[in-house]
Amino acid sequence: MKISRKSKILVTGGAGFIGSHLVRLFVNKYPEYKIYNLDKLTYAGNLENLKDIEDKPNYEFVRGDIVDGDFILRLFQKEQFDGVIHLAAESHVDSSITNPMEFIMTNIVGTVNLLNAAKYIWQDNYQGKKFYHVSTDEVYGSLGDTGLFTEKTAYDPHSPYSASKASSDHLVRAYHDTFGLPIIISNCSNNYGPNQFPEKLIPLFINNIQNNKPLPVYGKGENVRDWLYVIDHAKAIDLIYHKGTIGEIFNIGGNNEWKNIDLIKVLCKVTDKMLGRDLGTSEKLITYVKDRAGHDLRYAIDSSKLQNELGWEPSLQFEEGIEKTVKWYLDNQEWLENVTSGDYQAYYEKQYGN
Ligand code: NAD
Ligand code: DAU
Repeated sequence: MKISRKSKILVTGGAGFIGSHLVRLFVNKYPEYKIYNLDKLTYAGNLENLKDIEDKPNYEFVRGDIVDGDFILRLFQKEQFDGVIHLAAESHVDSSITNPMEFIMTNIVGTVNLLNAAKYIWQDNYQGKKFYHVSTDEVYGSLGDTGLFTEKTAYDPHSPYSASKASSDHLVRAYHDTFGLPIIISNCSNNYGPNQFPEKLIPLFINNIQNNKPLPVYGKGENVRDWLYVIDHAKAIDLIYHKGTIGEIFNIGGNNEWKNIDLIKVLCKVTDKMLGRDLGTSEKLITYVKDRAGHDLRYAIDSSKLQNELGWEPSLQFEEGIEKTVKWYLDNQEWLENVTSGDYQAYYEKQYGN
């Protein structure tokens, strides 16, 4: 009699912001799967994010670097994964401007190592196998005042980060077209929510507001981003992983565009209110600084394919999401202090000092 085993899913970058929410969702929702979280634990990876599920029997953490091809191949040979959900990446645009090479290595070479290992262990027998690549809307470049990115929009990346993600998307597609590897890709807009490293706009500004530090707005603050609550992204990945057709691309977005300066004013208001400060106190911290090099003006996502084909839609309104988010950071001082000690100070000085 054949003994069936749990389906084994490898999540890469599961100690990071989005990855940790995804790992939690899968570990709790699918006891029939064994979830492996492979993470190098860079400055952005934090196992504190997963404290509540670390002892679950269907969860295992593996520390490792996706750039190390031999290690990746050995891991795949040993564990014989059935599925891969690939999130590990260098993810901060500003850092890609100061240090592009890390982005080339992790985002491009790391992705190819995973593709090669999956191809090798699956040996052209792709029945029941899946390689899901998590990507970004930034690969499409920048929009003017109107229009939306669709799955057919031509790639036009501008930062080393978005160019490295675009390269990885092309390679994932190429492994499908050339070798038949069963891939799916999704391209999502800006995420916000608990556990995001405070180099990104929303957690950085909440932290600075609390500490009465300047709020460094790049350029005129006129750039537009589409914001999605991180748990809604995790739910979209779950749906696409299970129901999406192999070889397809899905855009994921919040249908929730904000000019940076307007979003920042909302953040100031919500945070002032929660801190019991007079309204208008934190807006005084707004400081216009030199613009980001190659700063994309506007991102906006058409996610109608995902809505029409798989019935997904965001569950949270932005007002509710932003209140939950501010509250989380204010309630989790220890988490913030842990991640902003050490190297963070040097990063901050280099990025924002004078
Ligand atoms: P993050 O920076 O918070 O986390 C990245 C994780 O990857 C960290 O845990 C880090 O330790 C790990 N990692 C980095 N290099 C590694 C390596 N060489 N080997 C193994 N692990 C490594 O990133 P995030 O914001 O959670 O983004 C996750 C993914 O989603 C990325 O692929 C990103 O491009 C994509 N994405 C992010 C957003 C967003 O708004 N944050 C939006 C769309 C897509
Ligand atoms: O669109 C999806 C992408 O969103 C993801 O692929 C990236 O991983 C993620 O980092 C994010 O990229 P952005 O560059 O849009 O996010 P960030 O939070 O860095 O910046 C959001 C906007 O705020 C952007 O227009 C730049 C601006 N900004 C950012 C920082 C950190 C400021 O004005 N000041 C700042 O200090």
